[in-house]
Amino acid sequence: MVLLVQYLMPLLEKVAKKYKSKNVVVETGTFRGDGVQNYLNWGFQKVVSFEIQPDLFHAASKRFQNNPQVSLYLGDSALALKELLAGSSLTEPAIFFLDAHCSAGETGASELFDEEQVLRNEMLAIKNHSVKNHTILIDDMRGFQKANIEKIVKDIFPDYLISYEDGHQKKDVLAAYPAHEFLQLKLRGAALLPVRVFKAIKRRL
Ligand SMILES: C[S@@+](CC[C@H](N)C(=O)[O-])C[C@H]1O[C@@H](n2cnc3c(N)ncnc32)[C@H](O)[C@@H]1O
Repeated sequence: MVLLVQYLMPLLEKVAKKYKSKNVVVETGTFRGDGVQNYLNWGFQKVVSFEIQPDLFHAASKRFQNNPQVSLYLGDSALALKELLAGSSLTEPAIFFLDAHCSAGETGASELFDEEQVLRNEMLAIKNHSVKNHTILIDDMRGFQKANIEKIVKDIFPDYLISYEDGHQKKDVLAAYPAHEFLQLKLRGAALLPVRVFKAIKRRL
């Protein structure tokens, strides 16, 4: 049964589960809140999310208004994450899922920073937080110059390791994490291996 569940697991869920030694996920880019709902479904105890577009923020706030596990904020994550973390009660390592990208349609974008600078600011805010072993997942890497983003990550987190995970597309999620977690993550990844094998077989059929 466990194996069957793993076979059917969507790829982003696999990433979240692999890196889920943490209880808290902080997401930038709420959109409609589907990600927030997913993190709750996947067992995270607390979900924090930022959205820059007011209509999306208000709709998502309504969606989760009765859920004390969810905290939503309106603002540019390039600035707001720093503010939140500076005064936050977060005392444990968390997953930061950086997904605040302009996606056309009704979505918004920072008026002050380009997307690389948004990521840089978000990561600086995380780096300066009192907890020093957060995990960073950057979604939609296909939309970025990979080398530029890796350089930003390495400049800000020289002691972190970087790897790529499958998200909406193959190797689309950059994961950056403390080097000492390498073995633990390898083991977790191996435990989730059946998902990859099954998908590979399916592709060949
Ligand atoms: C790719 S969507 C996020 C999808 C969402 N995380 C999910 O899993 O369903 C990107 C969202 O980020 C928002 N956004 C873009 N730039 C932002 C910024 N600087 N700060 C906060 N939100 C931002 C957009 O308005 C859009 O709703």
